[in-house]
Amino acid sequence: MILVTGGAGYIGSHTVRALQRAGYEPLIFDDLSTGHRDFVVETALIEGDLRRRDDIRQVFDRFPVEGVIHFASKALVGESALDPGLYYENNVVGGLHLLEAMAHAGVDSLIFSSSCATYGVPDSGMIREEHPQRPINPYGETKLAMERAIRWFGEAHGMRWLSLRYFNAAGADPDGISGEDHDPETHLIPLVLAAAAGQRPAAEIHGTDYPTPDGTCIRDYIHVLDLAEAHVEGLKRLMEGTISSQALNLGTGRGASVREVIDVCRGVVGRSFPVLEGPRRPGDPPRLVAAVERAYRELGWEARHSELTEIVASAWAWFLRRHGAAS
Ligand code: UFG
Repeated sequence: MILVTGGAGYIGSHTVRALQRAGYEPLIFDDLSTGHRDFVVETALIEGDLRRRDDIRQVFDRFPVEGVIHFASKALVGESALDPGLYYENNVVGGLHLLEAMAHAGVDSLIFSSSCATYGVPDSGMIREEHPQRPINPYGETKLAMERAIRWFGEAHGMRWLSLRYFNAAGADPDGISGEDHDPETHLIPLVLAAAAGQRPAAEIHGTDYPTPDGTCIRDYIHVLDLAEAHVEGLKRLMEGTISSQALNLGTGRGASVREVIDVCRGVVGRSFPVLEGPRRPGDPPRLVAAVERAYRELGWEARHSELTEIVASAWAWFLRRHGAAS
């Protein structure tokens, strides 16, 4: 069995279904604080809280877990700045409980859900894995703390691991079972689509004076289906022993500005909507784009579904399913 912490969440639920398609038997551990029960289909779900050491220990006592994919964490940059304790407690204390339980049970394969937020404000255009990690918010700090803890647990207990640093996860599986659904929603594509659907008064651009060609921030948007496939491939190689423990960026190597994303949303939805130009959002680096050669070399993986139009079309189909037709 493959234990998937946070398997009822956005990226976790997509990965659970990719594992099933590849013939693995996933077991979900989730506290349902931000995950959704209806994202869990034909998979065992254990409701538990990583902050309680015994909750996770018991999972390893009761089930024949062979490998772990660890998603469960708080993941909102703004919230992390307002409440760092919540982030250290969930992401670091909870994460350490998982590592201790794995070491105790002798489970030695781990995929960790990390983030480009561990890099902070990059020095150069394309961010390589060797780039210094200097997070600028508690969320990124807690992901980096876990990356480092995992490396030391690996040395001490013979664990094999991959830290996968996602760039901007977006889109939804066309199977319609899960997609982006955060409360509060802070991510660009769902917010723009809500404006396009008439469910928000306007889309808002957070800053138009960045040193980028159109003045708005550039991000590397990666389809959640592509992310899910990378996890399955990484796990397979870890368990076969054909990949060494390391960090890998998961992105496309291409960037899109906020204005470009809004234009694609307008085209996919087929209607115009109000767009407001607001001030910068604190803590936003101007440009985050992944260097992706290492993931290709090590995993034989590259994004296949991450053309912006495909991402936005899948997010729009999910939006309509979840929130109803446009008004
Ligand atoms: N943005 C807007 N208007 C909005 C929402 C966002 O202009 O209504 C802009 C943001 O300022 C940013 C870009 O759109 O420039 C993307 O913003 P998101 O909130 O969608 O994504 P982030 O790049 O802030 O966050 C993502 C992940 C985080 C991760 C972070 C690393 O969601 O988990 O990248 O920087 F930490």
